[in-house]
Parts: sequence; C-alpha cells; structure tokens
Amino acid sequence: RELVQEIDQATITTKEDLELFRMRFISRKGVLTELFDNLKTVAAEDRRAVGKELNDLKNKALARFQDSSEALEASGAGHQGPAVDLTLPNVPGLTGTQHPLSIVRQRIIQIFERIGFNVSDGPEIESDWYNFGALNFPDNHPARDMQDTFFVQKSAENQSADMLLRTHTSNVQIRLMEHRSKEETFRPIRSIMPGRVYRNETISARAHCQFHQVEGLYVDRNVGFRDLKDTLYHFVKEMFTKDTKIRFRPSYFPFTEPSAEIDISCQICHGSGCNICKHSGWVEIAGSGMVDPQVLINSGIDAEEYTGFAFGMGIERITMLKYEVRDLRLYFENDVRFLKQFEGL
Ligand code: PHE
Repeated sequence: RELVQEIDQATITTKEDLELFRMRFISRKGVLTELFDNLKTVAAEDRRAVGKELNDLKNKALARFQDSSEALEASGAGHQGPAVDLTLPNVPGLTGTQHPLSIVRQRIIQIFERIGFNVSDGPEIESDWYNFGALNFPDNHPARDMQDTFFVQKSAENQSADMLLRTHTSNVQIRLMEHRSKEETFRPIRSIMPGRVYRNETISARAHCQFHQVEGLYVDRNVGFRDLKDTLYHFVKEMFTKDTKIRFRPSYFPFTEPSAEIDISCQICHGSGCNICKHSGWVEIAGSGMVDPQVLINSGIDAEEYTGFAFGMGIERITMLKYEVRDLRLYFENDVRFLKQFEGL
C-alpha cells in the first residue's frame, strides 16, 4: 500500500525524475523485482492473491511511467535547454539545391554522351609521370611552370616518381590509353573525364587553388583536326546558344601538336565589351589539339596506326559564362544565398 501511494505521488517533472522512477519501480533491479522474487516464500494458499496484487502494482508503475514520459515529451522538458514554444511558427523545410558546378558538369556530360563519348575517371593524387612525364613535359623543363604544382612527396632519385596533386585532368588520358592498349584488340577511345584539379595559385576572383576540368579524348584511325573542330563547335552551340561564335587560336601544349586555344564570343556582354572578356568580346574556354604521337607511344598506342584529339576545359569558367558568376570564390564558400539562386535549374 505504501508503494501504491509512492507510485501515485512521485513527482516526475524532469528527465532525471523519470529515470529515478524507472530505476525504483521498473528496472530489473527495482523493488518490484525483489517482491516478485519473494513470492516463493509466501504460503501457497496466499500466493495467488499476493501475486495478483503485485501484478497490479507493476501495471500501475508502468502506466505512471508511460504517462509521465509522454507528458515530459509534450512539455519539451525532456530536451536540453528551454522548453519548446509550441506557438512559434514552423521552420520551413530546407532542402538543398544542386551546386552550379554539378549542374554544368552534368550538362557537359549529357551533351558529349549524346555524341558517343563515355565518362572516365582517374586519381587526384598522381605521380609526376602521369601528370607531366607521359604528357611530354621533359624533366626539369620550364613548361612545367605553366602549371604551379602542389607536391605531395618528392622522390630523391627519380622525378617521375614524385607525387603531386594533379594540375589538370590530362592524367586520365594517359591512364585510359594505357589501359586500352593492353586489351587484345584496340577499341577506339571516345571519352570525357571530369574532375577536380589543383594549382598553387593565389586565390582571387579569377583564380583558385582548386577547380574543375573536363578532359576529352578521341583516339581512332583517321581522327583529324576537323573532328576536333566539329565536336567543339557542337558542344559550344549546345551548351550556350546556336549563334555563339567560336574561334581557334594557335597555342602550345607539350602533349598536343598542333595545339589551339578555343575562344567563344562573350556570353555576358554579347560582344560589346565587358570586364569579363576584357573588352575584347572573346573569352577562352578550352585548350585542345591533336594528341602528340609521342604521347600515344608513351601510353602504348601504335602512333603509326592511330591518331587522336584532346581538349580540356574549366567547368568554373563555363559556369561563369552561363550564369554570369563573376567571382570564382563563390563556388567554394557554400553561401546558401548564392546556391539558392540555382534552385530548379
Ligand atoms: N591540360 C591542359 C590544361 O590544363 C588543357 C588541355 C587538354 C590542352 C587537352 C590540350 C589538350 O591547361
């Protein structure tokens, strides 16, 4: 009877009270367990009655526990800090939106997939050989300074074994060609390779130490410069508008010969001149060229039989032109006010 009273009168206003109550009446180490154990010492004729009484007590304790814990939940006292004010308006559900770089990467992939390119991938931490050596950058050659490099580990004997953060996605070209060259019969390569790249540059509105590229590679018999041109013309018109102008400007890369940079008419000022195109009306979007035969040889491909073209472009730059993003740093700050503007694209 005392216990009945105790169960009824226990004050349960906090989580701690509730726990104490549980320990005393409900847990296996509580008073009731002990009483149930003592049941065997009760005279046989009384056992039924006593047992029933104990069961009632137990149910009462369970009911009180249940009620109290529900009451606690509802009042919010079970949480840390102040009780929840149920009169406050609901916080609207915040769902994420796709990052502009993801939107553009997916669009690039879609455009190229429709003309028969697949997607390949490769490591971001790479050896000097795949990032430079195989691509015709001679050891200690100043051409390497075109891309300021973050080194991860320097090798004492052999520069090719240095480990670095890849400065471009061209490492995937080499890995893909090497892989294909080991197959019994050569299958033509038509692939794009999106990925993150790193350069040791001072961060500003126009440069960052990390950014994204998409590399493209096409290797088969009789691949010519006009295939490169056709492919990139098609891409630019799909990505931007049908009347976007394109020009190829002679350039130099150690791994392509001939090489060209690709400019398009400025998408922001439409040719009338702005600070993005530096009032020239043109913006560079990609490097490209015919794969240097030595690079094919370095990757195990028969350079007498096969030719190829390659190109590489920056996803940030394309996104900037497409959506008029004027500062590269915005891409990595994850400010929701920026990201929200791309909702639903
Ligand atoms: N890898 C070059 C760069 O990052 C771009 C490029 C790729 C040029 C393929 C030609 C062919 O600057």
